[in-house]
Amino acid sequence: MLATRLGTLQLTNPVLSASGTFGSGWEGREFSDLSRVGGLVSKTVTVKPRPGNPPPRILETPAGMLNSIGLENKGADYFIPESLPKMKQLVGEHGRVIVNIGGESIDEFVELAERFTAAGVDALEVNLSCPNVQEGRLLFSTSPQMCERAVAAVKAVTDVPVFAKLSPNVTDVVEIARAAAAGGADGLTAINTLIGMAIDWRRQRPVLGRGIGGLSGPAIRPVAVRMVYEITRAVDVPVIGVGGIQSASDVLEFLCAGAAAVQVGTAQFADPALMVRLVEDLERELAGLGRSVGELIGSAHPEAGPATPGQPAAAGASAQERR
Ligand code: FUM
Repeated sequence: MLATRLGTLQLTNPVLSASGTFGSGWEGREFSDLSRVGGLVSKTVTVKPRPGNPPPRILETPAGMLNSIGLENKGADYFIPESLPKMKQLVGEHGRVIVNIGGESIDEFVELAERFTAAGVDALEVNLSCPNVQEGRLLFSTSPQMCERAVAAVKAVTDVPVFAKLSPNVTDVVEIARAAAAGGADGLTAINTLIGMAIDWRRQRPVLGRGIGGLSGPAIRPVAVRMVYEITRAVDVPVIGVGGIQSASDVLEFLCAGAAAVQVGTAQFADPALMVRLVEDLERELAGLGRSVGELIGSAHPEAGPATPGQPAAAGASAQERR
């Protein structure tokens, strides 16, 4: 009932952590049994350690959060021996380990893909879309050509599934999704944060140390749902939906929009046991509906056929089956 797949990657259930909101999961182990989630996605790992942006880096906003972390991490030399084994231990035999990689250049993406493939991961998520670093300027997620080149370069050196994490900060997300698919992406993660800003009018200065940051949380969910819907109707690649998920109802909304799996992010800061509860709640909701995850994927698309009142579309193949 809960099983799903992202291309060749089978998941016991569609609930994954969102990069950057759960570290490598180790601190979260005290709150729930993480072997019950579909998988963990690491905070972005870069080639070299990064100190991150100047503080303040986080600001609570109405229905969300602005962050400007700046990809702070200890680098691949630390992550591979120290954090990766812990992720594998946490997810156990059935959960998936997905490492999110961030490069300042295509060469760096390639180096990280080679090293993590050799170290043994279930999939790579390529962070093309962090809004909080100067160097990239979202180049890999706003230029279709650069997006395709980065994804193709990673695909050329790995045999694990590659998911491209897309930015919402574009006019036409479908164009970028098509480029990632042309580069060979096995899946697309939609969406990263929306670029935002807050100003302290008393000081007449931006609140965040770097000025701008990425907006996440329930405030962006309608944007994320819309983008998942648009992408999955246009591009034949599985999509992982992310943006403001707080409840099983939110997960179901993303599935109906076309997502084959979801990532849970900002809400975990307030409730680090949320992912496992979502798995339980989802199972109960699906049992009530008498439907499986696979049957719901893309069921809100017109191609999926008519829905019965109060129910997802009853006829037609799911987006997953149509692939
Ligand atoms: O600033 C950060 O570390 C955020 C990364 C991202 O949004 O990809």
